[in-house]
Amino acid sequence: MKYEYVLTSSLLNRAPIGAKTSDFKNYIINLFEGSHTYEMLKNEDIIILNVCSPLIIAESVIDDVGNYEKLEYNGKTYYYIKEAEKIDIVKVKNRKFSSFKNEYGNSCIMNLECEKIDEKIIDTNKKYQNELKPFNRADSLLVEIAVLYSRINLVSETEKIKMMEKIKEYANIIKKVGSKEHMIVLNKFKEHIDI
Ligand SMILES: Cc1cc2nc3c(=O)[nH]c(=O)nc-3n(C[C@H](O)[C@H](O)[C@H](O)COP(=O)(O)O)c2cc1C
Repeated sequence: MKYEYVLTSSLLNRAPIGAKTSDFKNYIINLFEGSHTYEMLKNEDIIILNVCSPLIIAESVIDDVGNYEKLEYNGKTYYYIKEAEKIDIVKVKNRKFSSFKNEYGNSCIMNLECEKIDEKIIDTNKKYQNELKPFNRADSLLVEIAVLYSRINLVSETEKIKMMEKIKEYANIIKKVGSKEHMIVLNKFKEHIDI
């Protein structure tokens, strides 16, 4: 399953990043060439995955003007997001580069295999594990599908076509980032509409 974190490291830079994990111990992160985060992590093996609210995740793509706190690891300073609920400190075990073609030409992806080395609860008001879970896009997309589904028979044919396009788009994302449980519910919708 893929979770959305705010990634920080040894520079005052924050970026929303998706990390795949099935056990919250091992993570796969794919970074697309062209961002400061990509450059920073070419030579940096310690990454902080900040579990943040959707508001902070969204803000973090706009700029790096966040509230940062410092921590020391192996004699080096790293930054994390002050408003994070929890941080997972992960170490890069393996770094691979591959290229792919898109509409703009050739581009590079850096694939990072990471392992958790430490974690810290920042928001100590949140004591339960489910309050400290990172954001998953499939949750909100599944609810969006439910909203569209509830309205589909109340709208014109043209509107219905547009709604079906959105449902298909959301379903494709859920397939990439969701869990088995998300897929079970998605398949229930499939019994009623042509996704
Ligand atoms: C929710 C979300 C998830 C993202 N996931 C990734 C990702 O997995 N890999 C990536 O390269 N970029 C991802 N991005 C885009 C980066 O966040 C973006 O390139 C970065 O913030 C640019 O800022 P920087 O130049 O300071 O690194 C994501 C953006 C959002 C909003």
